[in-house]
Amino acid sequence: MRQWLILIVAAVALATAGPATVWAIEADPERPIRGVDKIPEVVVDRTAQIEEHVQRIFNSPHAFTADERTPFSQGMCNACHGPGMETLFNIEKESPERLNQPCLSCHEEGARRHWKGSTHEFSGLACVNCHAMHNERPRLLKADTQMEVCGSCHLDRRADFGKPSHHPVPEGIMECTDCHNPHGTPGPNKLVGHTINETCFNCHAEKRGPFLWEHNPVRESCVTCHDPHGSIHRPLLQARSPGLCQQCHLGTHSDVGLSAARMDFRVQGRSCLNCHSQIHGTNHPRGHVFKE
Ligand code: HEC
Ligand code: HEC
Ligand code: HEC
Ligand code: HEC
Ligand code: HEC
Ligand code: HEC
Ligand code: HEC
Ligand code: HEC
Ligand code: HEC
Repeated sequence: MRQWLILIVAAVALATAGPATVWAIEADPERPIRGVDKIPEVVVDRTAQIEEHVQRIFNSPHAFTADERTPFSQGMCNACHGPGMETLFNIEKESPERLNQPCLSCHEEGARRHWKGSTHEFSGLACVNCHAMHNERPRLLKADTQMEVCGSCHLDRRADFGKPSHHPVPEGIMECTDCHNPHGTPGPNKLVGHTINETCFNCHAEKRGPFLWEHNPVRESCVTCHDPHGSIHRPLLQARSPGLCQQCHLGTHSDVGLSAARMDFRVQGRSCLNCHSQIHGTNHPRGHVFKE
């Protein structure tokens, strides 16, 4: 019975001329390492020190040896760090291509189909900008929440979610990935739907229609009037009514020769929504001006 197992992994030094560095990992006897018998090319020693941080990988899905697709079933540490343990140690100094290569060799399919050519790839991001492998968090993310992971670069979007009206991402009810695939998509802005509206309909299906009376800007794009991240105007509006409506409807209710209803003094200074409440479209036979 191998109760104490220590892997000593010699890796190429951080700087070209530096000495080789040795990391040691000690298995916890309470939590035996899975697939110990499959560890190749590593020295087994019984005396070295625990490297807590490095050891966390043993509790991640990558260490699951019953699945033959995992790194631990395919060369252990070497599956990621390269045959001579020569890569992925100095992530600040290595090129994104080199950092991403081992990951993509197993993960290029599925959600990463559009990684190549995405703005994140184009901007030189690496998998390790958002993921950390020696870690036990779900999805191996670098931080506990997506607000932190994504917000570390997208400061303005993070600030949006602090505004009074916002999608419940800070509350932990939603995540950025409800609307975005950070690995890239064929559509605009890494949205999970083919268009902005398709993305919104995933949850707000009642806005999809088709309606007898359609309001053109709603068909075109929800973000004409809404800011999807957050706004000071409820509910997530780009501006307050009537200003919101008057971006397009200038002079409404004041044209020469209009009916009494249109000239009604009650319109002055009142929110358009008091009367035009079905602004997303309606099936009511008399709904042509979205009043019912
Ligand atoms: C799934 C890929 C993967 C596997 C398998 C893997 N590593 Fe890593 N390792 C990484 C990445 C990526 C980094 C860069 C830092 C980070 O993400 O935490 C890293 C960093 C390290 C570091 C540097 C510590 C640090 O804080 O930067 C050591 C040491 C290390 N790995 C040792 C090992 C050993 C030993 C094994 C096998 C038991 C192993 N790694 C298996 C991906 C992997
Ligand atoms: C030898 C193949 C292989 C390599 C190399 C590899 N992975 Fe994985 N990875 C897997 C497998 C298999 C799973 C488990 C998939 C599953 O459960 O569907 C996995 C799971 C994951 C998960 C999901 C974890 C979770 O909690 O659901 C992430 C994130 C991930 N890998 C990122 C990476 C990154 C980043 C790298 C490069 C540093 C990398 N992987 C290298 C095979 C690999
Ligand atoms: C901009 C941040 C970011 C980058 C860069 C990134 N990821 Fe992810 N990744 C995430 C987030 C966030 C999730 C969690 C998605 C979820 O919970 O649905 C995730 C989930 C995953 C998963 C598990 C779920 C799935 O989609 O299969 C894998 C595997 C994965 N990423 C691999 C990679 C690889 C490989 C790379 C590099 C080519 C990479 N990621 C680059 C943010 C990122
Ligand atoms: C390391 C920094 C960094 C992190 C972390 C990061 N991003 Fe980005 N993101 C960028 C850069 C750089 C761009 C491209 C430049 C730009 O358009 O601002 C970008 C662009 C985007 C875009 C616009 C893309 C397009 O195709 O038009 C979206 C959406 C996005 N990121 C979402 C996310 C999400 C969601 C996360 C977290 C899962 C995330 N980002 C994490 C740096 C980052
Ligand atoms: C409810 C859906 C939704 C959620 C949740 C969401 N986004 Fe977006 N995001 C969008 C839409 C829609 C766009 C396109 C906006 C446009 O075209 O004006 C966008 C655009 C972006 C852009 C690119 C445009 C820009 O303004 O720079 C970034 C970056 C971005 N989102 C980051 C994030 C981050 C980070 C999170 C999580 C903290 C997040 N988003 C959560 C829907 C969402
Ligand atoms: C993953 C599901 C999901 C997606 C996708 C989604 N939403 Fe939402 N939306 C919600 C939830 C949850 C709420 C909060 C409901 C509540 O607080 O009662 C909400 C609330 C709203 C509100 C009302 C906010 C308020 O203060 O009452 C608006 C407006 C809105 N969403 C617009 C959009 C738009 C536009 C899109 C597409 C860019 C979108 N949503 C995509 C889940 C989603
Ligand atoms: C012409 C501007 C405009 C467009 C475009 C628009 N909305 Fe709205 N939306 C509003 C206004 C104004 C309100 C507030 C209604 C109220 O207070 O009675 C609202 C309220 C909402 C609400 C919260 C109240 C409710 O009715 O459930 C949701 C959710 C919503 N919109 C989703 C969407 C979605 C999804 C789209 C795209 C299909 C969209 N909106 C397009 C103007 C617009
Ligand atoms: C982005 C531009 C835009 C915005 C913002 C906008 N609309 Fe519209 N609206 C239109 C267009 C285009 C039509 C179709 C006009 C037509 O068919 O002649 C329309 C039609 C209408 C109609 C029906 C007109 C008719 O003759 O049948 C009403 C009522 C209306 N809008 C009210 C509003 C209200 C109230 C708001 C604010 C919540 C608003 N609109 C915001 C562009 C906009
Ligand atoms: C007191 C209720 C009321 C208010 C407030 C109101 N409307 Fe109307 N609006 C109506 C009625 C009723 C009609 C239909 C008149 C008709 O069919 O003769 C109408 C017609 C319209 C039309 C279509 C006909 C046209 O004149 O082009 C538009 C566009 C419109 N309103 C926009 C607005 C906007 C924008 C606001 C806010 C600045 C607003 N309305 C405020 C009651 C109102």
